[in-house]
Amino acid sequence: MSFTFTEENLQALESLEKRYPSKEALMLPALWKVMRQQGHIDTEAMVAVAEWLEVPPVKVYGVATFYTMFHLEPIGRHHIQLCKTLSCALCGKADILAHLKKKLGIEVGETTEDGRFTLSQVECLGSCGTAPVMQINDTLYENLTIEKVDEILEGLE
Ligand code: FES
Repeated sequence: MSFTFTEENLQALESLEKRYPSKEALMLPALWKVMRQQGHIDTEAMVAVAEWLEVPPVKVYGVATFYTMFHLEPIGRHHIQLCKTLSCALCGKADILAHLKKKLGIEVGETTEDGRFTLSQVECLGSCGTAPVMQINDTLYENLTIEKVDEILEGLE
C-alpha cells in the first residue's frame, strides 16, 4: 500500500521549505512527519518521502535506518524507553527493567500482544540527576521506583 502525507503534514512541510537551504535538507522533518502520521517508516513511506524531496530512495533509506528513533516496523502505542546508562544503572535501572519485563510479559525489543507497549533500553536521556528515568513516547518520567512505574503504566490508555 502506498504512503501519502496528510494534507496537514504536506502543508506543514511546504511551509518549512522557506526556512531550509534546499528541499533535501527537509529529510528529517519529513521522516518525523511520517513517524507522527503512521508510527513507523516503511518502504512505501521512504519512497513517498524520496519523491517529495526529489532525491533517490536510497538516500532516505540511509537516513531512516541510521537513527534509532525512527522505527521501520510498527511498534506499540506506548514506547517505553528505559535509560541504561551509568547514572540510571547505578540508581536501580536493573530492578525497574526486571519489573517492566515481568509486568508486561515481554523482553527488551518486544511488543505486548495487545499492541499497547514496546519495551526498549536507550542510552542517556539527559536527565542523570533524576535517575533512574524512562521516556514513554514524548514524556520523560524521573526518579522511578517500582511503585511509580506501576502508577504511570496504569495511567496510560
Ligand atoms: S544516565 Fe540515565 S539519564 Fe543519563
